[in-house]
Amino acid sequence: MSTTPIPSGRLAGKTALVTGAATGIGRAVAGRFSVEGARVVIADRDAAAAERAAAEIGTSARTAVMDISDEASVQTAFAELAEAGWAPDVVVANAGVQLFGKDAKAGDLDLEVWRRTIDVNLTGTFLTVKHAVRSMLAGSPAGGSIILTGSPTGLNGEGADFTAYSASKAGIHGLTRTVAAAYAGTGIRVNTVVPAYTETSLVTTISDDPEARRAIVGRIPLGRAGAPRDVEGIMVFLASDDAEFATGALFAVDGGMTTL
Ligand SMILES: NC(=O)c1ccc[n+]([C@@H]2O[C@H](COP(=O)([O-])OP(=O)(O)OC[C@H]3O[C@@H](n4cnc5c(N)ncnc54)[C@H](O)[C@@H]3O)[C@@H](O)[C@H]2O)c1
Repeated sequence: MSTTPIPSGRLAGKTALVTGAATGIGRAVAGRFSVEGARVVIADRDAAAAERAAAEIGTSARTAVMDISDEASVQTAFAELAEAGWAPDVVVANAGVQLFGKDAKAGDLDLEVWRRTIDVNLTGTFLTVKHAVRSMLAGSPAGGSIILTGSPTGLNGEGADFTAYSASKAGIHGLTRTVAAAYAGTGIRVNTVVPAYTETSLVTTISDDPEARRAIVGRIPLGRAGAPRDVEGIMVFLASDDAEFATGALFAVDGGMTTL
């Protein structure tokens, strides 16, 4: 049963940038951040969808068109936000891809598919983190919260065909710990949220196939698929000052999926 959140104002005064916020999990998180009082930057490579999301959220939102796998694009977006007085206190590095039907068992996996997955999911997350850190160190006072989107596939062997995707997500989990430790003395915190199988446009290959859907939902002890709203609360907590002692950690909100 879901309930409508009562706005807490916990993010009042903060500016939050969410990558991949035009749709899916990122869109839900950006909307919730706005409800909790933050200004939000809808950062996505899909400019039209980002504009639609920002218009839905209202005047507390603006867009930043960026392709996270392209460093110039990420760097320019952060520079423009700083110039406009929208340097983020919170950055959610959430954008990602999963190339269903192309990702494959290691012996069958094309190098090009491996590279496209790693380029967006791992290199793109690294580039987002790199420029988030630089922006936050330049703040006055310095500091902020960086939240990455991980995956059960980075912890368990969730799919025999998910070679590139699983490796990219395990890399994100490792990045969390290294960056958190490296910047712990600066006021910058870094954590990763691990959602369950979550029904968004990313996973229609599974959600449109009753047998595949039954199999994956059967691996979730709480007995249902995840929805984008399921990770909003943990994201608000990690973005907020309530999480001042949390860094370098993985937070699974996955219906128990990673207990199996
Ligand atoms: N859906 C799931 O089951 C699930 C489970 C665990 C983790 N995740 C992760 O959650 C994150 C969000 O996934 P989702 O399910 O909301 O997917 P989605 O496809 O609904 O949304 C992804 C968004 O990222 C954007 N994007 C893709 N590549 C980009 C790039 N290079 N630069 C900028 N933006 C880019 C897309 O335009 C889109 O708006 C991903 O990192 C995904 O791996 C998803």
